[in-house]
Amino acid sequence: MALLLSFLFVFFFFLCNGSASAAIPLHLDDLLPNGDFEESPAKSNLKKTVIIGKYSLPKWEINGLVEYVSGGPQPGGFFFAIPRGVHAVRLGNEASISQNVTVNPGSIYSLTFGATRTCAQDEVLRISVPGYSADLSIQTLYSSDGGDTYAWAFMATSKVVKVTFHNPGVQEDPTCGPLLDAIAIKELLPLKYSKGNLVKNSDFEIGPHVFKNFSTGILLPPKQLDLISPLPGWIIESLKPVKYIDKKHFFVPSGLAAIELVAGRESAIAQIIRTVPNKFYNLTFTIGDAKNACHGSMMVEAFAAKETLKVPYESQAKGGFKTASFKFQAISARTRITFFSAYYHTRLHDYGHMCGPILDNIRVFPVY
Ligand SMILES: *[C@@H]1O[C@H](CO)[C@@H](O)[C@H](O)[C@H]1NC(C)=O
Ligand SMILES: *[C@@H]1O[C@H](CO)[C@@H](O)[C@H](O)[C@H]1NC(C)=O
Ligand SMILES: *[C@@H]1O[C@H](CO)[C@@H](O)[C@H](O)[C@H]1NC(C)=O
Repeated sequence: MALLLSFLFVFFFFLCNGSASAAIPLHLDDLLPNGDFEESPAKSNLKKTVIIGKYSLPKWEINGLVEYVSGGPQPGGFFFAIPRGVHAVRLGNEASISQNVTVNPGSIYSLTFGATRTCAQDEVLRISVPGYSADLSIQTLYSSDGGDTYAWAFMATSKVVKVTFHNPGVQEDPTCGPLLDAIAIKELLPLKYSKGNLVKNSDFEIGPHVFKNFSTGILLPPKQLDLISPLPGWIIESLKPVKYIDKKHFFVPSGLAAIELVAGRESAIAQIIRTVPNKFYNLTFTIGDAKNACHGSMMVEAFAAKETLKVPYESQAKGGFKTASFKFQAISARTRITFFSAYYHTRLHDYGHMCGPILDNIRVFPVY
């Protein structure tokens, strides 16, 4: 189906362009060129760690004070853990890096990027493409190893988009600022409907790029639209993110991916489904643990119409799951289904690492 769609798209594109020579980007799902910053600026373009010259960082354009940093102990007593590779960039006051990316106009893209704050101050990272921008607070650290990874989505409105990562802040210490260690992009293919099930992307199979070698999961920040989202179909509500986890690096009950509820009641994941008023539906979902040292008594709360279900789960952190279900009666033509974790959890012996129950395979079927 996806292949057929892409053929149709290519065909349509040719019709619009009237030229077979136009380069059609494939469905991107990879690091950006020099997205891991392992291609270094020439020594002559570095003043200590500061990159001199707008085009000195290979494949990127830089503005303002951008530092090229290597993992390990730093002058001034910092220690940078750079989980993916050896190099990273740090954006000083009002500094930015950008790159032009060739895309398919009309498609939705998700950027996955490793971003960490480097000083104690509130740090914000602004991600933008022409027409869209978002300010991401990176004040809270979710993993203790500096491996926090985020995703953000946009719709391409032209064949080339300029992707920019900017530090809008002004700190007293101009070398304070977000550290970026890897940036990838993925084209999100349109949602497919599975027969009978009213929940879209119900197994979380369509989601952001996952770094191949190393992943602490991908934080999906709240307040993204459900149409243009790194997790199509779903709404991340309230203040804090949820985490997208993949089968290669975590235990996942079904398919290739699941969601870890890492922020207790401060974050909920929801979807609005079409229902027929007064009709009965059965909501079924799976909860469990990701086999990531997240122990304890967990509880997932689920809501649909006037019904609520609290499902307890005792995590041994060995990668287990259970399935729960309940029946609800629709009140209107749209029903919001919502899930959150009732409690906060951190890893055993690692209180700086937030974790929680996982959620997967959410289905709603009419009850006849
Ligand atoms: C991106 O494209 C714009 C407009 O064509 C150009 O000004 C800019 O230098 C390009 N940036 C890079 C990094 O190539
Ligand atoms: C991932 O691992 C492969 C094989 O070990 C290596 O060639 C590649 O450079 C690594 N990529 C990153 C981003 O670390
Ligand atoms: C809902 O569906 C599940 C899975 O098919 C089933 O086990 C459960 O009994 C159903 N619940 C209700 C209330 O119909």
